[in-house]
Amino acid sequence: TEETLVLVKPDGVARGLTGAILARIEAKGYALVDIRLVEPDRETLAQHYAEHEGKPFYEPLLEFMLSGPSVAIRLAGNRVIEGFRALAGTTDPTTAAPGTIRGDFGRDWGLKVQQNLVHGSDSVESAERELAIWFA
Ligand code: GTP
Ligand code: MG
Repeated sequence: TEETLVLVKPDGVARGLTGAILARIEAKGYALVDIRLVEPDRETLAQHYAEHEGKPFYEPLLEFMLSGPSVAIRLAGNRVIEGFRALAGTTDPTTAAPGTIRGDFGRDWGLKVQQNLVHGSDSVESAERELAIWFA
């Protein structure tokens, strides 16, 4: 069975959507292996988002991720990586499909970074790398 890293990002926690997001994950049938409230420092986030260093949204992204606590989840199940990303919807919450987490709860707030409620690892390699960062 496969594992992935899910983050409920600061906007999701601040808006009180953690429970609603967890309900969707549990309803889909994935197993919560570990879960905790995290307040990452800049170094942790720089490691997590290393692939985006130098992009125009990189600094706003780190600032956003430093703006409040997130919830880190180790999630397990067959094909959970692609399954969670399907639950999450596409990156831009304005156009993410209704029925997805981002599509139902997210929108453009006119900020420099897409505040899109959740993160999910995008490959087996990313999942292993990211789980080692958040669940060391
Ligand atoms: P994650 O699950 O958070 O990794 O989202 P993703 O895989 O759908 O997106 P990606 O890894 O490409 O980008 C990481 C995060 O950077 C996104 O979730 C957004 O918060 C932000 N982001 C990505 N692309 C853009 C962009 O073009 N503009 C802005 N403003 N923010 C972006
Ligand atoms: Mg990504």
